[in-house]
Parts: sequence; structure tokens; C-alpha cells
Amino acid sequence: MSWIIENSLNKFQYFLVNILKCGPIPKHVGIIMDGNRRYAKKIKAEKVVGHSRGFDKLSETLEWCKEIGIKEVTVYAFSIENFKRTEREVAELMDLASEKFKKLLEEEDKLMLEGVCVRIIGDLSLLRKDLQKLIAKAMLLTKDNTKSYLNIAFAYVSREEISTSIKNVIKGTEDKFLEVDDVTETLLSQSLYLNSFPDLLIRTSGEVRLSDFLLWQSSNCVIYFSDVLWPEFSFWNFVLCILHYQKSYYNLKPRNLYGNAPICRSENERVEKYLTFLRVNRLDLLKTYAAN
Ligand code: FPP
Ligand code: MG
Repeated sequence: MSWIIENSLNKFQYFLVNILKCGPIPKHVGIIMDGNRRYAKKIKAEKVVGHSRGFDKLSETLEWCKEIGIKEVTVYAFSIENFKRTEREVAELMDLASEKFKKLLEEEDKLMLEGVCVRIIGDLSLLRKDLQKLIAKAMLLTKDNTKSYLNIAFAYVSREEISTSIKNVIKGTEDKFLEVDDVTETLLSQSLYLNSFPDLLIRTSGEVRLSDFLLWQSSNCVIYFSDVLWPEFSFWNFVLCILHYQKSYYNLKPRNLYGNAPICRSENERVEKYLTFLRVNRLDLLKTYAAN
């Protein structure tokens, strides 16, 4: 199945989307796509079938998000904790990811036409070389796109992201880029893999926890727990998520009402230099992965 699917909604669904659009729509949605293996068990299939159906559901959901006007989606595709699963399941998930990232690169024209910036967030050094290369190519190819953002958390957990951010900042002070007083909430946020804050976080499968996903970024967002298994998540379940967001919207703190925007750039010249250094380093690492 393709990453970008089009025109899958029927007339009534389009009508409903237009009604929902009269109310507030989240700019950025985070999704913990949980329940793939339980789904596989339910249909008496191998685990990998559950994960593959999970990918198909992701494509569908991305279309719903696009139709309703959600500009940014961040999904939890593989946690660092998931490396503890059986060797076979980890290998199957990596093979699936490799197949899908290849497909993503084949869809270059569509991605560029739609202006999708694809970012893979996580500790990419933990991944196989073939995956590092595919991921780096996809990120480099789409890095200047700004119409919409697809962030895929892969080999990711929040605590690793936060500790890496802190390590980078400490290194910045040791290398005399920064002074201790430059270390602020804003700077730590800007040093994360993802300096963008979801307005709505969805978790499927009935589990009521965050599993180390976007802990920093979700400090102020609406959370919706859905009982359905991810591959069974339907358009109607998606509508319930949006309705939940709209119901909660007016109770949100002012920061959210004015948009849950990423923390903006600093005026401090030292900080600017450090952030440029960090960005260049990250870009160089991607270029190395892409070339190897
Ligand atoms: C959680 O369900 C799902 C995962 C660990 C993998 C999610 C991956 C996909 C949906 C494929 C996406 C691929 C790419 C490249 C973006 P689970 O395995 O924890 O199932 P369970 O909760 O029923 O045990
Ligand atoms: Mg699970």
C-alpha cells in the first residue's frame, strides 16, 4: 500500500469532515499505533501481518488528517524498548520498515508535489545500515518541504531524546558555544529531535499510558485513548478523536488556544550559533548515512 492515498472518503464522510472543520482542528496530532499483535492474534495471522495492516491503517489515517486540515502528524512506529522483542519480530519489523521506506522514496514525485517533509526521530545509530541509508535519503529529499510534516518515531523513546538534548547542551557549554545562563527550557526544546508540540495525542488498543512517547512535547496536549486495535481504527473512530479535541479545546490553557507552536527562536547570538552547529552536525550525519 502507498504512503499517500487519495479520494478514499465517500460523500457522507466528506460532508462530515466539512462540518468538523467549522470547529477547531488540531494542527499537530501524535499517534501511538498500538494493538497490531492482538489484531493479528484475533484474525489468526502471524504478528507481521498485524504490523503490515498497521502500516495500511497509517496511510488511511494520513489521508483523513490531510482532508481535515491537520498539517503535522507524529507516529510511534518503533520504540527503543521494542528491540527487546524476539529476534524474529524485530527482524520482521525492520524488513517491513525497509520495504516501506523504499516505497516512500519511489513516491518521491507525490511527496514533493504534496510538500511533505518526512522526519524520522530517534536514535538512528541503533538501526541497520540499510535502514539508516533509506531514512537519511528520505529526510534529505524532503527536508525543505513545508506544506505538511510526517514525523516517524523510530528507535525512539522520549527519555533518550531528552537526555541526548541535555548531552548536546552540556557539550555546547564545554565547547564554549554556550554559557550556563543560556540553558533554558527553550534551548532544551530546540535541541530535541522534534521541537514541535502536538495538540492532540491518540493511543489505540485500550492501553492508558504514554509509553515514553513525546513526554516533553505533550506536556500540554489533549489525550484521547481509543479502545480499538490500531489496524481496526476506522474513520468513525477518527471522528471521535476530533470531537474529543473540540470538546476539550475551550478548556485548554491560553498557550494552546493561541496554537501549540514550537518554542520560537532565541535572540541570543551564542544560542543561534550553537543551534546552527547542531543542525549542521545532524545534516552531516544524515549525509554520511545516505552515502554509506
Ligand atoms: C504496536 O502494536 C505497534 C508497533 C510496535 C509497530 C507499529 C508499526 C507500524 C504500524 C508499521 C509502520 C511502519 C513504518 C515504516 C512507519 P504492538 O506490536 O504493541 O501490538 P500489541 O499491543 O497488540 O502487542
Ligand atoms: Mg502494544
